[in-house]
Formats: sequence, structure tokens, C-alpha cells
Amino acid sequence: MPKMSDQDYLLSDQYRDASNLDARMQLHARFSVNVYGWHRWVFDQFDLPPQSRILELGCGPAWLWRDNLDRIPESWDITLSDFSPGMLQQAQSNLRDSQERFDYAEIDAQSIPYEDGSFDAVIANHMLYHVPDRAKALTEICRVLRLGGHFYASTVGRNHLRELHTLLKRFDPVPHPWFDNPFVLENGAAQLSEWFSQVTLHRYEDALIITEAGPLVAYILSSADKEILVGEKLAALRRYVEEEIALHEHIHITKDPGIFEAIRDDGDHREQN
Ligand SMILES: C[S@@+](CC[C@H](N)C(=O)[O-])C[C@H]1O[C@@H](n2cnc3c(N)ncnc32)[C@H](O)[C@@H]1O
Repeated sequence: MPKMSDQDYLLSDQYRDASNLDARMQLHARFSVNVYGWHRWVFDQFDLPPQSRILELGCGPAWLWRDNLDRIPESWDITLSDFSPGMLQQAQSNLRDSQERFDYAEIDAQSIPYEDGSFDAVIANHMLYHVPDRAKALTEICRVLRLGGHFYASTVGRNHLRELHTLLKRFDPVPHPWFDNPFVLENGAAQLSEWFSQVTLHRYEDALIITEAGPLVAYILSSADKEILVGEKLAALRRYVEEEIALHEHIHITKDPGIFEAIRDDGDHREQN
């Protein structure tokens, strides 16, 4: 089982709490060229009526909601879910001043404990690529969406962090399996179109210009690569990144995140699959 979708590893290590995501977010927050902000932009994409019932799967620390608290319609009924109890705890802590606005539930996306047609929207923000049985999750998502309901699924393109992958391979040409992503912007529409008839992709323009080694090394260590980057090898990686920055004054890294918007159709389409 690749690390990316190894549920035991994800639950007991990678997403036991929010520390790995924090390290990644620190890098994006400090060195992203687009200052509008990913979570503000994701919220802009939601095209939902005032009385919507919304389920987020794999909500993590709930940054999407924390960063948009000023504009969430009062009448939205929002359930935040994740399969990691540690993440849900962090989500609740991050939204502690607005607790009454949200419900929380521990849910595996492959088995969603709600009745058919319960939601106007389901959100899966940077999480579908972690789900081992995506077909099962998509069947469940379709089932709990009402007819005409919206599914929003974000992910990244194949070029996302391209220069970071190249840097790691140049430093140490062993495989870096954490970065093998089975649900990307280039193949996501084809996967979703087996369940949804209307799928639209929206892309967010951005890049990283990194001028400090520490946050980039912390980012690398937040992945499964931390198991192989220990002792002298880790010290050598720090020196390598510092030398790259000294040589070029910065490291430029491509970013290519985006979000699919899919609408639940009348079901005929699904039954053919
Ligand atoms: C990359 S994080 C994204 C967190 C958040 N959505 C965000 O964008 O900041 C992936 C999240 O999905 C959760 N996750 C992974 N597999 C899951 C599954 N099968 N069911 C529900 N949540 C899952 C993880 O615990 C983690 O919080």
C-alpha cells in the first residue's frame, strides 16, 4: 500500500495531529507569491444557496472555515468531519470562538453515516488522494448528495512542487513515494465523471519563492521522507538547501492547486457505471 493512501500510517502518524500540516502551511504562508490566500479562494468557488446543508470530509484543522468566518452565511448547516480524532480536536480548538456554527463527526470518507440525499454540498479539500478506495468514497458522496447538489474536490496538478521533487532526487536519488498522487488535476475530471455528469476545474495561480532553508527542510520532514532523512543525511540536506539558496538567492517552486466542482445528476448516468 503506498504511503499516500496507507490508512494506518495516515491515522497513527501523518495525521495523528496537525503538526505535519502546520509545517506545510507555514511554508505556503510565508513564501507564496499569491497573497490572496488559498482558503479564501476556495470559499469564493462555492456556489450554494443560503439554506445549504454542507458536509466537509477530511476537514483537517478546519482552516477553510477559520479563514472565512467573516462571510459564512448564518443559515448554512455545516458538519466538519475527519477520520482522525486528533485532527477533529484541532478543528474544534481552531473554531472554539464559533463552536455553535459547526457540528463535528469522525467519518471515514468510504463509509458516510448519513441518509441518501442529506446534503446540498460535500467538500473534499486535498483529501481524496489519500482514500484507498476512491470509487467507494465517490459512491458514498453521490449517495448523500441531493439531486443537483454540489461536490467540491481540490487537489494539485502533476507539476505542483516540481522543483522540490527535482531537488530531492538530485540530493538523494532514492524513490520519494509520498509524492505519488493518484488523484491530480490532470486525471481528476475523468475519475469524477464516472459519478458526475458536469465537472468543472478551477485553477489557483501561485508559486513559492523561498529564501530560507529551515521552513523548506521542515516541509520535507513533514512528509513520509522523514523516515529516511535522519542523522548525517538530514544535516547534509540542510547544507544542500542552504547552498542552493546562497547560490540563486532563492528557490523558485511551481505550485498548481485547483478545485473540481461537480454536480449530482439524476442518477441514470451513475447506474451505467
Ligand atoms: C492533506 S489533509 C487536508 C486537510 C484539510 N482539508 C485542508 O485542506 O487543510 C488530508 C486530511 O484528510 C484526512 N483523511 C485522510 N484519509 C481520510 C479518510 N479516508 N476519510 C476521512 N478523512 C481522511 C486526514 O486525516 C487529513 O486531515
